[in-house]
Amino acid sequence: MKALILVGGFGTRLRPLTLKHPKPLVEFANKPMILHQIEALKAIGVTEVVLAINYKPEEMMNFLKDFDTKLDIKITCSQETEPLGTAGPLALARDKLIDDSGEPFFVLNSDVICEYPLKLMIEFHKAHGGEASIMVTKVDEPSKYGVVVMEESTGKVERFVEKPKAFVGNKINAGIYLLNPSVVDRIELRPTSIEKEVFPKIAAEKKLYAMALPGFWMDIGQPRDYITGLRLYLDSLRKKSPSKLATGPHIVGNVLVDETAEIGEGCLIGPDVAIGPGCVVESGVRLSRCSVMSGVTIKEHACISSSIIGWSSTVGQGACVEKTVLGEAVHVKKTSLGEVVYVCDDVYSNGGVVLPGREIESSNLKPESNV
Ligand code: GDD
Ligand code: MG
Repeated sequence: MKALILVGGFGTRLRPLTLKHPKPLVEFANKPMILHQIEALKAIGVTEVVLAINYKPEEMMNFLKDFDTKLDIKITCSQETEPLGTAGPLALARDKLIDDSGEPFFVLNSDVICEYPLKLMIEFHKAHGGEASIMVTKVDEPSKYGVVVMEESTGKVERFVEKPKAFVGNKINAGIYLLNPSVVDRIELRPTSIEKEVFPKIAAEKKLYAMALPGFWMDIGQPRDYITGLRLYLDSLRKKSPSKLATGPHIVGNVLVDETAEIGEGCLIGPDVAIGPGCVVESGVRLSRCSVMSGVTIKEHACISSSIIGWSSTVGQGACVEKTVLGEAVHVKKTSLGEVVYVCDDVYSNGGVVLPGREIESSNLKPESNV
């Protein structure tokens, strides 16, 4: 069985992290986002994954070289010369995806995190006999997703409305599809949206079916959702593989610490924290609801909450970082006046992020954009 992962978006909502890496390679819970998906596909017997790329292709290619052997799965690239949207890449990769077997194939958005119940999806797809299956999940804010109206008893989709302006329903497209090869016949090789141009048509022909996704789900393509997604992911890890979580008197709730990270005395870490490889967390540090990427140093008594700390950054002694996304190699210093307090309250709506390589010496307590 084959799969295509849509990895071509620019990831603008996850800047400044995506200034350094393409979104699928940004770590989530200490692992590049896309690895969570490739491992799940491999686990249910997918033998070939096609990555539909148009942004930073060289870095993706280098990454692939390492991982197809490590994971024992064929990973190939289908590279666009212009962004083809969410459907055009299927037409471009047609020959890679479709073979004589006539088997359906998976398509995944690269920024969705869940327990990937892909086996259940295969059963669902076989049972309804339609042309395409999508997973749906319920959310509180449906307007930023594709909304699905379906017949509850059968899952038959009646309407698919991408990012509706008015309320249509609260079941949304989770970005995981299982499609018959015939779906590709509906797509021309040009920039096309699967959500706006393809699904509504299949739904009108009553051949699109939706399955309620069991377990948690989050699109982690925006900082606030990334941090919420980390909480949900760690909750699920607690139930499925609790031994992967850190333990000890300094740990509160669910915390993931890479084995190469060093944690000093008297820290209080958690809940909902991921600390990546090579990080140094000095004594007396307080961390909660945050993701700390590889190579970060957090000096004594610093305090970080609801933030993402980019690779190789330093948070100075006693500094306090809240609701902020630091790019790569940002240095939050301790000033002679005392502690630096860096709070970007509006980080989510206003882009309150710190660009790579910046040095921060003074406090910022106002929501503002640094981009
Ligand atoms: N190859 C390629 N080319 N991939 C692309 C392109 C492109 O031109 N444009 C976007 N993508 C990829 C993104 O990298 C991402 O993996 C996926 O397509 C979806 O794009 P997003 O930009 O993340 O879309 P969204 O989050 O606003 O909405 C989509 O996801 C929601 C669920 O998270 C839609 O599919 C919604 O219907 C859905 O509810
Ligand atoms: Mg998205």
